[in-house]
Amino acid sequence: MTQHLWSGRFDSAPDPAAFDFGVSFPFDRRLFEDDVTGSLAWADALLACGALSPDDARKIQDGLSDILEQGRRDPAWVNGDDEDVHSFVERQLVARIGDAGRRLHTGRSRNEQVSVDLRLYLRRRIPLLQARLRALVATLADQADAAGTALMPSYTHMRRAMPVMVAHYFLSHAAAMRRDHDRLGVAAAEADALPLGSGAIAGTGYPIDVARLAARLGFSRVVPNSIDASSDRDFAATFVYACALTMVHLSRIAEDFILLTSEEFGFFELADQSATGSSMMPQKKNPDPLELVRGKTGRSLGHLTGLMVTMKGLPTGYNKDLQEDKEPVFDSEDTLRVSLDATRAVVAHLTLRADRARLAASGLLLATDVADYLAGRGVPFRQAHEIVGGMVRQLLADGRQFEGLSLEEWRRFSDHFGDDVREAVTPEASVRARKTPQSTAPDAVRAALAETRRWLAT
Ligand code: ARG
Repeated sequence: MTQHLWSGRFDSAPDPAAFDFGVSFPFDRRLFEDDVTGSLAWADALLACGALSPDDARKIQDGLSDILEQGRRDPAWVNGDDEDVHSFVERQLVARIGDAGRRLHTGRSRNEQVSVDLRLYLRRRIPLLQARLRALVATLADQADAAGTALMPSYTHMRRAMPVMVAHYFLSHAAAMRRDHDRLGVAAAEADALPLGSGAIAGTGYPIDVARLAARLGFSRVVPNSIDASSDRDFAATFVYACALTMVHLSRIAEDFILLTSEEFGFFELADQSATGSSMMPQKKNPDPLELVRGKTGRSLGHLTGLMVTMKGLPTGYNKDLQEDKEPVFDSEDTLRVSLDATRAVVAHLTLRADRARLAASGLLLATDVADYLAGRGVPFRQAHEIVGGMVRQLLADGRQFEGLSLEEWRRFSDHFGDDVREAVTPEASVRARKTPQSTAPDAVRAALAETRRWLAT
């Protein structure tokens, strides 16, 4: 009969249909490194409090180091019929060093072990996602740089709103990506607490120096309550949320460039290498990578919902339901990683079609500038808005734009219009007229780009 970590209490082997159902090794093998790291530190802590002899402790250290070595050298070796990664490591250890290996689990529960593993894992992996986020911010900054003084329309309600600098538009996505970067940092900070010493739920009966153990594992603090620690997966949910919200932002970037590279907008050209063709329609150049990023956002949001629902009905203490935390965490991570890479690659190879973008940034979307012009000459803004609204109605009826009006025609709407109105009402003048640091004024955008570069350099 196969031995499990808990076989002693049972007089028959588990039904395969039930046992196989509960096996987590196929996915929690990802925690291999962290499981060994945690066990190395645990053996150290047991030695320090006199619960392990120096001889056993040395054997355990050597055995675990050997296992870690082998698993790193040959990841496919981390495999087998074991119930979970903890059982695998222990089986390997006992196979190497016998009884000393059986002493490693003294005073420890898998409930806290799986928590410490997942916390170590996230603290190790989150910086890798953050590096990819920084790479995307750098690419957005490069595009902002390359856009120079180019202009495009901005949109509200998906209707042309006001002219903006193309660089300002790129930096708008960089701003969201930077929040995502920091939010992942928050998830890492939340995972930064040592749960070991909690035992299965009530705490351990060995005088483990948990502060020292925390420091050894790179945690800055110890969990405050063993009962809470046994079922706390808030740090996992925070991570999955941080991934999901980043995906939401990537999905919006994807949606933007699906539209902006289309025949209808055409402000940017999608590189051939970022597109795929159609098996039937020879003219097609499809933005598949962007559509996939948008599509994968659905599963990322599903993981967030799934994990929250898994957590919501649990009675106090560890429950096996919590095993369902790992797949959403791992798939959220994987989905975000590939989506960041794909988005970065597509954005890096976009070409601006400056003429088309500039053309779309002129015309009736300068109406606010006209109203501001009147307000600047003493007309109350509400009244100016009314006057310009009337102008827009007239221009639409005549199929004309502000740009083509003679001074006489301007003055038909208000005698506050002077000779200077024609140079005040251009896309270039419009962006120059913005006055706040977060605006699309060329100086403000230049400063924002420089600030983004400084952020990237730190
Ligand atoms: N595979 C389990 C999990 O992921 C490890 C903890 C098992 N603890 C237990 N009491 N069955 O949650």
